[in-house]
Amino acid sequence: MMTPVPHDKARLEELRELIDQYSYEYHVNDEQSVSDAVYDSLFGEIKQIEAAHPEWITSESPTQRVGNELKDGFKKVAHSSRMLSLNDVFDREEVQAWVTRIDKLLPGARHEFFVDVKMDGLACALIYQDGNLVQAITRGDSYVGEDVTNNVRTIKNIPLRLRGQSKYAAFLQGRTEIRGEIVMLKTDFAMLNTQRRENGEPEFANPRNLAAGTIRQLDPRLVAARPLHFRAYDLLRDNPDEVPTNMFAYEALSGLGVTRNKEATVFTQLPDVMRFVDHIGDVRENLPFNTDGLVIKVNDRAVFRELGIVGKQPRAAVAYKYAAEQATTVVKDIVISIGRTGAATPVAVFDPVVVAGSTVQHASLHNADEIARKDVRVGDTVIIFKAGDIIPQVEAVVLELRPKDSEQFDYQKALAQQYPELEFERTGKDVVYRVKGANTDLMLKRAVEYYASKAALDIETLGEKNVVALVDAGLVKDLADIYTLSIDDLLKLDRFADISAKKLVNAIAEKKNPPLEKFILALGIRHVGAQTAIDLANKFGSMDKLQRARIEQLEDIDGIGKVVAESVVAWFADEDNIALLEKFERVGVHPHFQKKMGRLIGKSFVITGSLESMSRDQAADRIRALGGTFQTSVAKDTIYLVAGGKVGASKLKKAESYGTKIIDEAALLNLIS
Ligand code: IVH
Repeated sequence: MMTPVPHDKARLEELRELIDQYSYEYHVNDEQSVSDAVYDSLFGEIKQIEAAHPEWITSESPTQRVGNELKDGFKKVAHSSRMLSLNDVFDREEVQAWVTRIDKLLPGARHEFFVDVKMDGLACALIYQDGNLVQAITRGDSYVGEDVTNNVRTIKNIPLRLRGQSKYAAFLQGRTEIRGEIVMLKTDFAMLNTQRRENGEPEFANPRNLAAGTIRQLDPRLVAARPLHFRAYDLLRDNPDEVPTNMFAYEALSGLGVTRNKEATVFTQLPDVMRFVDHIGDVRENLPFNTDGLVIKVNDRAVFRELGIVGKQPRAAVAYKYAAEQATTVVKDIVISIGRTGAATPVAVFDPVVVAGSTVQHASLHNADEIARKDVRVGDTVIIFKAGDIIPQVEAVVLELRPKDSEQFDYQKALAQQYPELEFERTGKDVVYRVKGANTDLMLKRAVEYYASKAALDIETLGEKNVVALVDAGLVKDLADIYTLSIDDLLKLDRFADISAKKLVNAIAEKKNPPLEKFILALGIRHVGAQTAIDLANKFGSMDKLQRARIEQLEDIDGIGKVVAESVVAWFADEDNIALLEKFERVGVHPHFQKKMGRLIGKSFVITGSLESMSRDQAADRIRALGGTFQTSVAKDTIYLVAGGKVGASKLKKAESYGTKIIDEAALLNLIS
């Protein structure tokens, strides 16, 4: 689930090598070097690159491996029917899309959905002949598995003879196949690891790995020493009509004395399915075995068969996977954002990636020490972690995938490059670099002044002197605080009397619904001037959407390059700023957006020299209000060059070569009045 990094063949090969290494450690050494989520994420990237470049697929690619490899030592047995796997779905929309696909194939049919918890173990088929267990076969490559009958016989909850309840007595005649998952229960796993710790032996990595390793041990006594557990999910008969629905199969399994999940439920409505998904999501931690999702199947087995199979997967079932809390992505840049206290916060900007159900593209690296400790570099593949709804973090670097020419991040150099006009210092034990001499009050005063200035929100009477008084009195601690000022607050200050206090409070209240572009500008995001603010407002239409904007989307806007895009993303990644935006909401500030319908849409202007009837800023405002664009210098797309006085020769030449029309002030007034 990641967006493509440049489809690079060298990267593909590195990824394959790493995945092979991980599988070797996992399957052969019984060690798990990375979490399943990280493995899946890297594997997913391979699949993505191969999808874009099928010509790069080779038979050695890990994506071309079917199921588990077969080991020597066990007899190979063909399955009576293929042991299929399922397509994954990750959210409600994907479940809906699956239902829509089914509906299209079987129009008008009313579906029952059979939903069960998906166990994280290994699949196994148990063959009963006349009620007696005669054979147990692993999934293998889906067609042929390994005969592990002797090992399976040690699993205590697998009946060697099915119980003969009269209702299901028919299943004690002839061949009955029961498929299910072999798992190790969490409690047994914990107990085994406690023992190993006490004996000074290395601990096992995870229950699934251990269960899989155990069942393929050649010595059944060893298997018996490691408690395994079986849960059935399927019941097959030569005549499929004997098992009309999946729910019937589960009831029969219970009747035959075979363990199956009690959670399994049938629903007719999709919203009920989704409620169940959420419910299991809440309680799955407490289930006795590990689960990463649910299985959703069409309940009616005749319909199930009719829907058929595509590739290895039946159309009539999907695996719903809960969002992984970890994923991998590539760091594109490390941008430093200066917060309102002058503190420099490094932010890693990366290729967008889905973690715990939402797309993230940046994470705070907190401070210089943290970057150094994790040694995060531009170009690194990193593991992003997000537990629950918490802010995403860089957990670690996948060192194996580090580019050969990568350089350690030089924090001081980056500060000097990104903020050439500022000096930074780090005092005492402070882990944070701050703007030298920046005292919080000074930065805040400037920010509030800018917020209230004519170019931004234009709040009357909130000029420099009032701002200084408000900040010095401790009445304003951040931008949003101005909206909480009361007349009584102001009257406590020497500067204010009844009328002036009222005037200021009203002037501020009037700006609770500022135009979106003015609000964006007023925030003082580095590199975001008036035109960029307008462009951002036009493109995204709300603060919410702007906050979630992806770098690519930002860079799509004419006139916005990497530097501006990253600055915007870094601003929204700063926890102080996120808190500030929430506070604006709480105090009732709701910027509004109105799509520009003006007659100057698509028209861009440059003004040179000075105008008589208004200032350049005023002219720029008028042009923008009518949907036009105001530029600072003549470019290819400049339509009008307004000459306030004589135009220099070089400008003239440029304008001529671009086909820019040169007009005078009167003509401009004509256009904007
Ligand atoms: S039903 C056509 N139910 O997940 C396969 N499978 O991705 C129908 N699994 O191969 C399988 N718990 O090994 C089903 N409650 C459950 C399951 C389950 C775990 C495994 C099984 C299957 C794989 C499908």
